[in-house]
Amino acid sequence: MLDRKRPDQLREALNPLFNERKLKLGTFSSNLSHGCAISDIEGTLKADWPSTSALAEMAEAMDFEALVPVGRWKGFGGTTNFNGAGFESYTWAAGIGAMTKKAGVFATSHVPTVHPIMAAKQATTIDHITNGRFSLNIVTGWFQPEMEMFGEPQMEHDRRYERALEWLEIIKLLWTREEEFDFEGKFYRINGGYQQPKPIQKPYPVVMNAGGSAKGREFVSKYCDVSFTALVSHEPDAMAAQCAAYKNAARQARGIELPVWTNAYIVQGETEKEAWDFFNYYVHEHGDWEAADNLVRQLGINAETFPPDALKALKAHFIGGWAGYQIVGTKEQVVDGLGRLKKAGFDGVILSWARYIEGMREFQEKTYPLIVQAGWR
Ligand SMILES: Cc1cc2nc3c(=O)[nH]c(=O)nc-3n(C[C@H](O)[C@H](O)[C@H](O)COP(=O)(O)O)c2cc1C
Repeated sequence: MLDRKRPDQLREALNPLFNERKLKLGTFSSNLSHGCAISDIEGTLKADWPSTSALAEMAEAMDFEALVPVGRWKGFGGTTNFNGAGFESYTWAAGIGAMTKKAGVFATSHVPTVHPIMAAKQATTIDHITNGRFSLNIVTGWFQPEMEMFGEPQMEHDRRYERALEWLEIIKLLWTREEEFDFEGKFYRINGGYQQPKPIQKPYPVVMNAGGSAKGREFVSKYCDVSFTALVSHEPDAMAAQCAAYKNAARQARGIELPVWTNAYIVQGETEKEAWDFFNYYVHEHGDWEAADNLVRQLGINAETFPPDALKALKAHFIGGWAGYQIVGTKEQVVDGLGRLKKAGFDGVILSWARYIEGMREFQEKTYPLIVQAGWR
């Protein structure tokens, strides 16, 4: 049993990410227009406060451990300008943190857009607002037009992680050092670094990263507390191997058990056919293929690197739900789908639905009780 009076156990006792549930759950991209679905159907998520807070209320009612916003500054064009409207993630987390009591709340921070002194202080403020339920998701920024909007050229990939490491090192010093410190690095200089109060979580709030490259995996396994990983294959053995690779890297680097999460999208129906019909409707009949095309091109995926059929399938998958693990079917099949991720070794899954509010409500009413019945929560 964790003791809230013991400083060395404070983080594990307060942040729901460390609870004992066998399958942890969260929401993904509930701060942006369209959430994770690149479709022009009615009912996709709007970037307004009533909508995002409706999702947070449902997440709170189901004790979700991770409300993970996306850091996004520009949309992907097309007819929907997918994700073009959205809330800045630290201020979003402060607001959502104040209206919830139990859920785990994240901010997703692009390293180049926030000075580390500012990031440390904002994170500490949200950690106090939430009484230790806050986690910081560090992203280095892959979407070139939005990074260049800040006036700096996009850095070479691995150098972005070198900068992130320095950024995080300064933040951890600000979170933990009582005395003032100077810091001279390749990217930052800090003169008399100081921050009070310290965060509630000790030694500091949970730090997460979703690096997928070799450099990204090294960053998360050596310096972060939680890993998020986008699946490269949906084949069970490959999923298990991918999850294990992150856990093994952290065991080797630090001797710790690294929690590993992934993302999934749910398309639920009364029958399996109804679920697939809805998938075809919002993806194949109403998908914004132009925005999906822009998105995959920005990721460096194109006709030269991918055969045409595979490229089309990948785009459909992005339209369906940001290319997360696809779960389509009845409520029982949704539970089975989550079970496959659990079996592959994942500690948690962040979810999204095309009609985010309607889909999550159906999940809360019909599916969540089955997950509880399964003993996973
Ligand atoms: C669950 C998840 C959430 C992510 N959130 C964001 C985000 O909000 N903003 C962003 O620019 N990148 C985001 N990314 C991209 C990652 O930060 C990372 O750049 C990507 O997985 C590629 O890995 P690499 O940086 O090691 O090449 C996310 C990735 C995953 C899997």
